[in-house]
Amino acid sequence: MNGTVARKQQPEQITFAPNFAAWQKVARRALANDLAPESIVWEELGSDQPALAIFNEHETPVNAPDTRFRVPRSFVKSASLVACHRGSNRWTLLYHLLWRLTHGEPHLLEIVVDADVHDFMLMEKAVRHEVHKMRAFVRFRAIEHDGVTWHVAWFEPEHHIVELNAGFFRDRFANMRWSILTPERCVHWDGRHFTFTAGVPKSEAPRQDAMEALWRTYYGNIFNPARVKTKAMRKEMPKRYWKNLPETEIIPTLLEEAPARVEKMFRENDARESEYSIAQPPLTDDWEKLREAGCACRACPLWKNATQAVFGEGPLDSEIMLVGEQPGDVEDRGGRAFIGPAGQLLDQGLSEAGIDRTKVYITNAVKHFKWEPRGKRRIHQTPNSRDIAACRPWLEAELRLIKPRVLICLGSTAATTIFGTGARVLRDRGQMRESKFAPKTMITFHPSALLRAPNEATSAKQYALFVSDLRLALESSKTATQACD
Ligand code: URA
Repeated sequence: MNGTVARKQQPEQITFAPNFAAWQKVARRALANDLAPESIVWEELGSDQPALAIFNEHETPVNAPDTRFRVPRSFVKSASLVACHRGSNRWTLLYHLLWRLTHGEPHLLEIVVDADVHDFMLMEKAVRHEVHKMRAFVRFRAIEHDGVTWHVAWFEPEHHIVELNAGFFRDRFANMRWSILTPERCVHWDGRHFTFTAGVPKSEAPRQDAMEALWRTYYGNIFNPARVKTKAMRKEMPKRYWKNLPETEIIPTLLEEAPARVEKMFRENDARESEYSIAQPPLTDDWEKLREAGCACRACPLWKNATQAVFGEGPLDSEIMLVGEQPGDVEDRGGRAFIGPAGQLLDQGLSEAGIDRTKVYITNAVKHFKWEPRGKRRIHQTPNSRDIAACRPWLEAELRLIKPRVLICLGSTAATTIFGTGARVLRDRGQMRESKFAPKTMITFHPSALLRAPNEATSAKQYALFVSDLRLALESSKTATQACD
């Protein structure tokens, strides 16, 4: 491309290697040269040819204004997926959106009913779906190759996702040497490097071997006979993948055995059920005695894996009482509620709202830490309805003793414990209502949820709401009358 680029009447042909990075480069140049979507014809090169024609990938744009084209980051991320879609119109669509985003419609992606945006979202979804399917349905078969074991899998993706998924398989199978063969593109990992080669016919993929048995055992183990829904199974594992999956051979047998296995599961569940009862706190106004009894509670099996029970704490004449979910890792070791990362955020929120933590009573719906091991870490597990029901009498005993004017439920577990299973944090938060336990009861975010927010903007927004909820709680504590219990 030489000299000044004037907007031309005839469509410009832009050739580029059919991958997102190459398209991005030429698209940027097209934008810089003010080429409207209708004046471009996108022409894919063979993936191993260099990009040529009017926008060479390495060319500096001539007379292009030095403009930074700003588009939402989410667009770039989604566009990189849409670029893997099989649809031949994807480049045209991407440039159309890019043009509109940079020509007066910066919020275009929020208009989900827009036809371009709609198509864009559908294409992204289809690619994501296929990425997921490839991860789930690739089955390696071991072969001997030059004296070493090589694992080879055959897969037929609907979209161009081999490169996109290569990193996933490398991370999973870093120590193996493997190849994934597809009709269009193959990827090979030799334990150190990737190589990508052209597609091959299925006849080049190895057939049956001992790995099959392994997969069948694995599938047999994860198959849940109580959840047999053949329609859903077919949706999750579409028939077109079946022919390459060793485990599908055993599905008929598994289905046949399902009733007997369900019965066995029920028997085991009954045995687990017997580990649960409902706590029976002593009838006392003496908080110390209550705490002592609470710490010795064995009404559910959670005590077995916990270091200790974590009872509530705070002045017994507190006007405000806060209820969280259950102690976390730090609380389990330290023996006090909300002293870990969530506790620090809670302290910050309370302080910003003008509430003195030492003047409120803080407790949890469940008093033992529920967790499961992952490596050396103890990973939090949300308490289920039986855990909550078993522990509930302790919370009720605390509520009877404190009689708070204002009760704050932090997050979903506390909210459903106090208001029942219909309570929803996002829908119900920030509203003062009467409950069985306090004249003014409110639901707000759990500080851990703020820590887990998907991005900074959401986290900041939710934190501001959290503080304003706490402020409202403080205001209400000044006006509320005492609970009559
Ligand atoms: N999360 C809770 O719900 N409670 C705690 O005490 C700590 C973290």
